[in-house]
Amino acid sequence: MNILLTGCAGFIGSHLAEKLLHLKHNVFGVDNFDPYYSESLKRSNLAEIEKTARELDASFHFESLDICNSEKIRELLNSNAIETVVHLAALAGVRPSLEKPCRYAKVNVEGTTNLLEEARKKNIKNFVFASSSSVYGNYKETPFNENIEVDSMISHYATTKRAGELTCKTYHNLYNMSIACLRFFTVYGPRQRPDLAINKFTHKILQGDEISIYGDGSKKRDFTYIDDIIEGTVKAINWTAQATQAAFEIFNLGEAKTTDVNTLIAMIEEAAGKDAKRKYEPNVAGDVLQTFADITKAKQILGYNPKTDISEGIQKYVHWVKERI
Ligand SMILES: NC(=O)c1ccc[n+]([C@@H]2O[C@H](COP(=O)([O-])OP(=O)(O)OC[C@H]3O[C@@H](n4cnc5c(N)ncnc54)[C@H](O)[C@@H]3O)[C@@H](O)[C@H]2O)c1
Repeated sequence: MNILLTGCAGFIGSHLAEKLLHLKHNVFGVDNFDPYYSESLKRSNLAEIEKTARELDASFHFESLDICNSEKIRELLNSNAIETVVHLAALAGVRPSLEKPCRYAKVNVEGTTNLLEEARKKNIKNFVFASSSSVYGNYKETPFNENIEVDSMISHYATTKRAGELTCKTYHNLYNMSIACLRFFTVYGPRQRPDLAINKFTHKILQGDEISIYGDGSKKRDFTYIDDIIEGTVKAINWTAQATQAAFEIFNLGEAKTTDVNTLIAMIEEAAGKDAKRKYEPNVAGDVLQTFADITKAKQILGYNPKTDISEGIQKYVHWVKERI
């Protein structure tokens, strides 16, 4: 397939691009190197994709563009026979969204609408959208399943992701597009974003620096290893492409296990062979208390089958970081 992949220089996007090249798809990647975190990290992710493409003699084209630029997206779609859009580009930070709600709305809502609109004008029927577990807000009952009515988000980021899902549903209803919205649960692994806790904790513990813990360390997350997210995303891409009639579904992609922050830190300490210097700080707005995915639906419909337990994934990740610092 010819696949347009947005956010391809980012953490998840760069892994997905490589996987799609291994599967012999033609990948048209876009990213605008948003300054939320270092451009050089994103350039190095891109260099890894390009290396893989050379080694496999695979077809990878990259364009630096902003997903809000409809003209550029139109040009790209007009000059390439794109069959599927996989939309990962976003402003992805929870806490920063409280300081810049309009920027988050612009990129995450307008950008998503723009891609859907340009796709439907070109009669592209298949679309996969990266949503987030944050849409569940502080919903009390776990595990979270996709039938829960999510209408009580506690960050602008989460609200933009829910708006993205609803916009996808509208395009499905209006134009018979097959769309999968994937609620990713805290993803970690090689190339993880530098603003995320596992990355920060690992680097600081290895370097002997103090780590900040917001709250008492009892917040829980369903931490999902990157390989499992990529497996689920590829299955969702295939599901949209193979749908015999227009389909729309939301899927949780997590490990279906939840771990509190104190336990997570103990795992990193063990893998790093060093003790953490902990500083407990007040809770910050926007952070949910817990996430825990019910993945029954993704298992049944997509055949999603995550394999990496947090203890194994942390070992792998810490090893990867150790080799690089
Ligand atoms: N990492 C996680 O734990 C997690 C959890 C839930 C959902 N998600 C979602 O998954 C997707 C990928 O997340 P990630 O962790 O790889 O983040 P990331 O920040 O590493 O990747 C996102 C990429 O999008 C690009 N981008 C931002 N604005 C853009 C614009 N206007 N035009 C073009 N490109 C733009 C960025 O430069 C970046 O490379 C995002 O949609 C995010 O919201 C991630």
